[in-house]
Amino acid sequence: KTKAGPKDFLHIDDFDKDTILSILDRAKEVKAKIKSEDRTYLPFKGKTMAMIFAKPSMRTRVSFETGFHLLGGHAIYLGPDDIQMGKREETRDVARVLSRYNDIIMARVFAHQDILDLAKYASVPVVNGLTDYNHPCQIMADVLTIIEHVGQLEGKKVVYVGDGNNIVHSWLLLASVVPFHFVCASPTGYEPDARTTKRALKAGVSKIEITKDPKEAVKGADVVYSDVWASMGQKEEAEYRRQVFQEFQVNEELMELAGPNAYFMHCLPAERGVEVTNGVIEAPNSIVFPQAENRMHAQNAIMLHVLGL
Ligand code: CP
Ligand code: NVA
Repeated sequence: KTKAGPKDFLHIDDFDKDTILSILDRAKEVKAKIKSEDRTYLPFKGKTMAMIFAKPSMRTRVSFETGFHLLGGHAIYLGPDDIQMGKREETRDVARVLSRYNDIIMARVFAHQDILDLAKYASVPVVNGLTDYNHPCQIMADVLTIIEHVGQLEGKKVVYVGDGNNIVHSWLLLASVVPFHFVCASPTGYEPDARTTKRALKAGVSKIEITKDPKEAVKGADVVYSDVWASMGQKEEAEYRRQVFQEFQVNEELMELAGPNAYFMHCLPAERGVEVTNGVIEAPNSIVFPQAENRMHAQNAIMLHVLGL
């Protein structure tokens, strides 16, 4: 059992290094149980989870719902048209009502403030399933995948190439508590949030570099990581961003510069031929599907932690 922390899972740096690593150890254990024929481990038996989605999703919805079910619980999907948090009903009311029915709430929202408000007013744990600011469950799954393929994260070089978005913020918050080498290569004007970068640098835990040169950045990388150039909520900018981000495509040439030991990762969904080529996603060193699978295992361990199980 890990140390008691906040009741919610909203940002990776709300937890210390030992807690993060013990959640990941737990993820490995629970993954092994699920992979075996053993179906007797049912810690979520009798529990229900409300899942609020203000945005579309495949991985987050299916991995949370399946994971919670496999460990004995029941998950309720609430799509963008269902509760319309903040529109049909105030967030603070949603939080208090759902807390009366459910043992845990998972939410994917636009404004980060919405998840903060939800957590503030909910009496049950709230898990962040992506906001415009961050995506902590994704990065927990990514670290689990890196540990499985590379052996460990400490001392390794992770190079993110593209938009300084929610994925990057979670990498920076992770780098504030767990030591590794993180590089973000983004075009001018698309760098990650300056306050988050400053905080991560000030923490002095990891080596952090923000650069505009993807070719230089990927040299010696253990992992090259990509994400869409236009996130959910920015799709009308997609065309324009394609021009701005041209030099930031992860293609065979860039992976060549990264070297033979570099794995390719992407949180998915990917736009093949845009931020990454088909060849890079399909290459033997691409670990995007083990990475997607690990969403479920990492999240099961996160839920066990916040539920105190
Ligand atoms: N990576 C991820 O969160 O995928 P979805 O948007 O499909 O949930
Ligand atoms: N940055 C992407 C991640 C999707 C999982 C988005 O927010 O749309």
